[in-house]
Amino acid sequence: MRVGVLTGGGDCPGLNAVIRAVVRKGIGVYGYEFVGFRDGWKGPLESHTMELGIPEVRGILPRGGTILGSSRTNPFKVEGGVARIRENLYALGVDALIAIGGEDTLGVATQLHLQGVNVVGVPKTIDNDLNATDYTFGFDTAVNIASEAIDRLHTTAESHHRALIVEVMGRHAGWIALHSGLSGGANVILIPEQRFSLERVCAYVESRFQSHYAPIIVVAEGAQPEEGDMVTVQQDLDAFGHVRLGGIGEWLAKQIEARTGKEARTTVLGHIQRGGTPTAFDRVLATRFGLHAIDAVKDGEWGKMVALQGTDIVRVPLSEATEKLKTVPIEFYNEAEVFFG
Ligand code: F6P
Repeated sequence: MRVGVLTGGGDCPGLNAVIRAVVRKGIGVYGYEFVGFRDGWKGPLESHTMELGIPEVRGILPRGGTILGSSRTNPFKVEGGVARIRENLYALGVDALIAIGGEDTLGVATQLHLQGVNVVGVPKTIDNDLNATDYTFGFDTAVNIASEAIDRLHTTAESHHRALIVEVMGRHAGWIALHSGLSGGANVILIPEQRFSLERVCAYVESRFQSHYAPIIVVAEGAQPEEGDMVTVQQDLDAFGHVRLGGIGEWLAKQIEARTGKEARTTVLGHIQRGGTPTAFDRVLATRFGLHAIDAVKDGEWGKMVALQGTDIVRVPLSEATEKLKTVPIEFYNEAEVFFG
């Protein structure tokens, strides 16, 4: 058996741990051969490959990023893209594909499976918004990075009597904002799932200053005020139809200053949340996903994604994982409200 492996979409700490586990078990236990596809779906589309054996995966467990490279290439947006992928897989003698990605990469995998390609999916995203799995790897690392940033911002905010806003990633789901805000003791957490009242945010800011503390506001990049839209950097869409978000933190700082007269500044964590070494939790989760993904290949379980449910790794249909996003339940968000203001 010859197995192709690719990583697509935004990178994420733990991708290399998955690749290592897939290759180590695939070669060591099943005697398979591997082909590494470069830069997401661009790899099989353009037959852009690299060697993927034991020497290539040595030492990569703690390394962030992905040795395979990544991209947001969508083969369904390329004329004859799917046919080219099938031809290239055939020419390279690839019998099965392991696609490691989020909603977009696995959405493509779902469609390719329906067209007869032997594919198994592994869920990755720092946003933790993939359906059918309790957690995706990368999320724990991102939350720890954001949480540490919030701890640091508390002390400087208090020294200068400022409101500090932390903008974190999260396009349609506020998991990073909610978890880092809770663990970092934020005074307000704003998530995409729940439109926010600017008036209420300013009231929380005022009340925090009255108690002689400085407010920390954690805002997900996709959060929206009750009146207004998502703040975007530019309107151009990527191959999966997403606009580039960013700027809600700056917008909020200006509004807070204008309405409360207090100084407000913004820190945008951006790609720092995605870079660098994965936490131990993410290394273990990514490793287990990799081990179970190669088992799924061995069992010919095409069109399945490995998923964490409780403490078990299970196989779910790719279509179930990609049919809708896993957003923050409003009851969970409401639990955090007791700490607001
Ligand atoms: O992978 C998802 C994500 O982390 C989103 O939260 C964010 O909007 C996006 O990546 C940004 O990625 P990039 O800057 O690589 O386009």
